[in-house]
Amino acid sequence: MKLFVLTFLLLAAVFIHSINSQQYVVGCYFTNWAQHRQGLGRFLPSHIDPSLCTHLYYAFANIDITNRSPSPFEVNDVKPSPSTSPVIVNDVVKPGSNGRLNGQLKPPIKQPPPMSMYEQFNILKHKNPQMKTLLSLGGASVNATQFRTIFEPDKIRRDFIRNTIKYLRNYKFDGLDLDWEFPETESDRRIFSLLVRDYRLEFQNEAFLTDRSRLLLTAAVAAYRPKIEAGYDIKEIAPYLDYINLMAYDYHGSWNTHTGFNSPLYARSSEKGDKRLLNQQATVDTWIDGGCSPSKLVLGLGMYGRTFKLKQKKNPDTKPYGPSKGAGLPGNYTASNGFLSYYEICELIKKQKWHTEYDKEQQVPYAYKDDQWVSFDNQESIEKKCHYVASKRLAGAMIWSLDFDDFNGAFCGQGKYPLLTTVKKTLDSLQGPTTPIRIHKTTQTTITNHGYLYNYSFFLLLINFIFPIFIYHLI
Ligand SMILES: *[C@@H]1O[C@H](CO)[C@@H](O)[C@H](O)[C@H]1NC(C)=O
Ligand SMILES: *[C@@H]1O[C@H](CO)[C@@H](O)[C@H](O)[C@H]1NC(C)=O
Repeated sequence: MKLFVLTFLLLAAVFIHSINSQQYVVGCYFTNWAQHRQGLGRFLPSHIDPSLCTHLYYAFANIDITNRSPSPFEVNDVKPSPSTSPVIVNDVVKPGSNGRLNGQLKPPIKQPPPMSMYEQFNILKHKNPQMKTLLSLGGASVNATQFRTIFEPDKIRRDFIRNTIKYLRNYKFDGLDLDWEFPETESDRRIFSLLVRDYRLEFQNEAFLTDRSRLLLTAAVAAYRPKIEAGYDIKEIAPYLDYINLMAYDYHGSWNTHTGFNSPLYARSSEKGDKRLLNQQATVDTWIDGGCSPSKLVLGLGMYGRTFKLKQKKNPDTKPYGPSKGAGLPGNYTASNGFLSYYEICELIKKQKWHTEYDKEQQVPYAYKDDQWVSFDNQESIEKKCHYVASKRLAGAMIWSLDFDDFNGAFCGQGKYPLLTTVKKTLDSLQGPTTPIRIHKTTQTTITNHGYLYNYSFFLLLINFIFPIFIYHLI
């Protein structure tokens, strides 16, 4: 009898543990300019598979200084456009049936009215109701002057934040992702802390007043330690942000005079000084050492490669960190020097027999042919990085970006979204990070989790050990 009761209590404890073990975050960036690529490279909201992402980011929205509001970059962000709306194809009528099915004329299929891209993006939540959508503000084409103008003066910042809330609610986003690339002066750092704090407080306020779920607040941030130290007061911003998306890529590229890895997981034993900071582990350590809880950190994964032209045309040095002179040739779809999407790399490996190697020390692959050299990520390196996410108890991983993976499954022979699927499968197979139970809605107004963590640990201790022993002795 005693044994039975004890077993029951232990099972109950395990159950409580498991319901509290949270899913890992899989953040997916959608880019609104990938619609302009040709053929199989063209990417529209209808290409997104909402079952693979927990958070979906729409990149990017602009800053409209005159109206103190976020604003669209692309006309069809907000205006319906037939050319980018999903097309419902009529069922093919079998030959000889004269358009009749069972003797009845088939009812005409109504084409849904064209939708804006925001709309198409946000109705993806119908297919995955747990998924959250966020609008990413900024990106590389919004400059620091625009951020400073809108966020430095208190009054303008307040207006912009209020208009952001209207904009997000109007277009049915669940949150905002700040993509200032990058705050760099002491004044920028102060402005960034202020804007993060004010956004969070206004989001809480609005949720309280309107009885809606609070809008989420995230930021995409720098990866290189000197840039992090210049741009962010980690301890001040981390508590206000739901997640911090680490742009943990672009560590090396054609701007160097040697080849190098776009997104190595670890440093190389031969690296010295600041070179040892050019990897994902160094980035994660910097944010954690700076006072950020690992449970806020989301590791960025690049679905693309950085390319180089090797220095010697004849018998080039193909080893990593060998001499290079500039960018590799552009891809047929992404069309920019020094850069190739994962699917374009697959095509080169398969069709043009590029030679692939895997660097065990830094946990990334590279490929080359003649004087062309590319560093990228494949399923193997992505899996390794997801295990790293779990080992460091990070919140999860994000990808930049959906349109660089083999989303059609047409190039790599690994099915649709081979890299993103690897992220999802690997993280789902690992025990998620545990979070405090949120007992009441008002806990939302508390900024830090630490108090709850403490109470919760005590609760677990009670359930797991003290309570069973107590009962055991009682019966
Ligand atoms: C920043 O962007 C704005 C709007 O695109 C432009 O008018 C301005 O000249 C840019 N400023 C700098 C310093 O590049
Ligand atoms: C682009 O397409 C052409 C013709 O099909 C091919 O020869 C070339 O290698 C391709 N380039 C890349 C980078 O895939």
